[in-house]
Amino acid sequence: MELTIDSLSYNGGRGVGRTDGVVIFVPGTAPGDRVRVRLTVRKPRFAEADLLEILEPSSVRRTPPCPVAGRCGGCSWQHVSYSAQVEQKKKILNDSLRRLQGFEVLPFLAAPAEFHYRNRIQLQIQNGRYGFFGKRSHELVAIEECWIAEPALNEKMRGLSLSDLSHNRRLEIALGEDNKLHLTTGDRDPEAALFSQVNRAQNLVLQQRILQLVQIRPDWLMDLYAGAGNLTLPLVTHFPSVPLLAAELSRASVERGKAKAPAILWRVGDVAKVLRGERPRSGSGLIVLDPPRPGCEIEVIEQLKRHRPQQIIYVSCNPSTFARDAERLLPDYRLEKVQGLDMFPQTEHVELIASLRAAH
Ligand SMILES: C[S@@+](CC[C@H](N)C(=O)[O-])C[C@H]1O[C@@H](n2cnc3c(N)ncnc32)[C@H](O)[C@@H]1O
Repeated sequence: MELTIDSLSYNGGRGVGRTDGVVIFVPGTAPGDRVRVRLTVRKPRFAEADLLEILEPSSVRRTPPCPVAGRCGGCSWQHVSYSAQVEQKKKILNDSLRRLQGFEVLPFLAAPAEFHYRNRIQLQIQNGRYGFFGKRSHELVAIEECWIAEPALNEKMRGLSLSDLSHNRRLEIALGEDNKLHLTTGDRDPEAALFSQVNRAQNLVLQQRILQLVQIRPDWLMDLYAGAGNLTLPLVTHFPSVPLLAAELSRASVERGKAKAPAILWRVGDVAKVLRGERPRSGSGLIVLDPPRPGCEIEVIEQLKRHRPQQIIYVSCNPSTFARDAERLLPDYRLEKVQGLDMFPQTEHVELIASLRAAH
């Protein structure tokens, strides 16, 4: 069938077209493309299709600079201009938040660099060749360079030895906080697989924006889902005399955080459980929270209401679970501001920072 693509979806980054009230998802298309597709999945309200032919290319379509874009499982949007990617991320954000009202949308923070931003890549190795897995497959797509990796990572990759390539199934190359390149071989030790932000430039922007969004003079602070203290450290530096509690599930992350900020209270454990075990503090509090994609468990929302901070700054990598959690905080909290941020150009991922204030 023939179809016009009107937008890009958060769900897998596929193009979206519509016909007779049915939404059709087509990978590899751009908003504005007129395409011919073949249906592969048909459900009452949506369908999936493969792209057969581009009848009229969209004005935002471009030739991806990377020769394996479209085959490699990494980038889903390289065939779309960066300004159009940003427009689609804004739209995804607005659509996800449409049930919420009365808040200010701050200007979207596009990434300073659309390529060469990742400080960590995980290479797959098969028969002495390296690359990434293909889309939804375990077939190797061999590469010579990765367009979204920082240049130092590509240099290291090109210098891999025969022994590196013959003795491993997987290799991770990462620029550490020490600014040195680290090569990790084989399967990752789950304890060592710590969360860390992959886009250094945008991470600095995220840290700054959190501090700029603080609207109170806090008497106490909490950083929940703190990882290894990425958002904790700027808070400690900015509010050196305010007591701070950081909570995180991974012991290895907490050990790393403790080494950097030994003076604060670190708790290893599930956020709901940590909050349950703490007595509500007096005075006005600020809680920063940065949960993983599924968002906060319902008990965390209840515990937030019990601890009643004056302000909550919620960092989210999933606008739909954020919208659900923000709704659950109503009417105890008012959503005041939301700002979108692009940590992952060339992909559908979108990050947001939101400020909520206790309602009186
Ligand atoms: C999106 S990361 C944020 C980390 C940190 N804020 C940063 O900027 O690097 C989410 C973190 O939450 C932790 N986590 C996941 N579920 C948790 C839970 N139920 N309780 C505590 N921490 C959890 C993960 O280990 C991970 O470090």
